[in-house]
Amino acid sequence: MAVDLHGRHFLTLLDYTPEEIRCLLDTAKMFKELKHAGTPHRYLAGKNIVLLFEKTSTRTRCAFEVAGLDLGMGVTCLDPGSSQMGKKESIADTARVLGRMFDGIEYRGFGQERVEELAKYAGVPVWNGLTDQFHPTQMLADLLTIEEKLGRLEGVKFTYMGDARNNMGNSLMIACAKMGLHFTACAPKALFPAEELVEKARGFAAASGGSVTLTEDVEAGAAGADVLYTDIWVSMGEPEEVWESRIALLRDYQINAAVMAKAAPGAVFMHCLPSFHDTKTDIGAQIAEKYGIREMEVTDEVFESERSVVFDEAENRMHTIKAVIYATLAP
Ligand code: CP
Ligand code: NVA
Repeated sequence: MAVDLHGRHFLTLLDYTPEEIRCLLDTAKMFKELKHAGTPHRYLAGKNIVLLFEKTSTRTRCAFEVAGLDLGMGVTCLDPGSSQMGKKESIADTARVLGRMFDGIEYRGFGQERVEELAKYAGVPVWNGLTDQFHPTQMLADLLTIEEKLGRLEGVKFTYMGDARNNMGNSLMIACAKMGLHFTACAPKALFPAEELVEKARGFAAASGGSVTLTEDVEAGAAGADVLYTDIWVSMGEPEEVWESRIALLRDYQINAAVMAKAAPGAVFMHCLPSFHDTKTDIGAQIAEKYGIREMEVTDEVFESERSVVFDEAENRMHTIKAVIYATLAP
């Protein structure tokens, strides 16, 4: 049966089948071609979407805005400082108001239960632009980038190094397991993903021909990997005090030239961004001064190398988000 995503929420890839994910990737490829050819595609003219950001964003916000405008839609952005949500109005009430005015709602914020609550009451599709637990739109961009760079998803050896129980670690494990990649989380045990989620992912991998491995050993984790992926060591919403313990836990899991050298020939480096690969940011400079480390999860050398595909990933955020908006809103 043809995939039909009309009216669906996009909250976590746990809710999506491999066929549905494949359909979104193929739709994104179609939109990327149209965009690069300069062919207008205002397929959703007359519709309106609203973007709610309770945490900061560059890529996700811009990707939703440009995608919405390219599709011919009206796009409204709200941040906590400029709306009643949370302070004077519950999520359920906000959802019911916005659902009367907009055709779709994007939400970035804290607990996954907040985006679930919005989805429960909105009456229109709700898209998760990142929560503490999941970052599903990033997954589509990452899968598309891997397919473009390596020519396939199935059988790809994918290693994620760093905080493997944050939104990125969780989401990449699920995405890889569903799409037949061999996923390895390489992290200290304290930062392994939750057992329950690992079990779910192993179930998906059993069906797709992929696998899910957890290891503390950097050498074993990097050996023969086709993709080495990392994320910042302290995520949005975590208190500043965790930096010290997180640096102590993760400093051996930095992706540097020695780690890249253990990967497969032609391996790519990936990162959702933003990244602390130098001291040209406020936080990067503060950490350097306080803890004496000038590069964190990835060295500047690897970040700037030919193996790094991070800006292709960033561009693909827009094409894949456009696919999600279109697939869930088009009649
Ligand atoms: N990767 C990502 O979600 O980036 P932003 O935080 O800039 O949206
Ligand atoms: N784990 C990071 C991802 C940013 C895109 C965070 O939540 O801050």
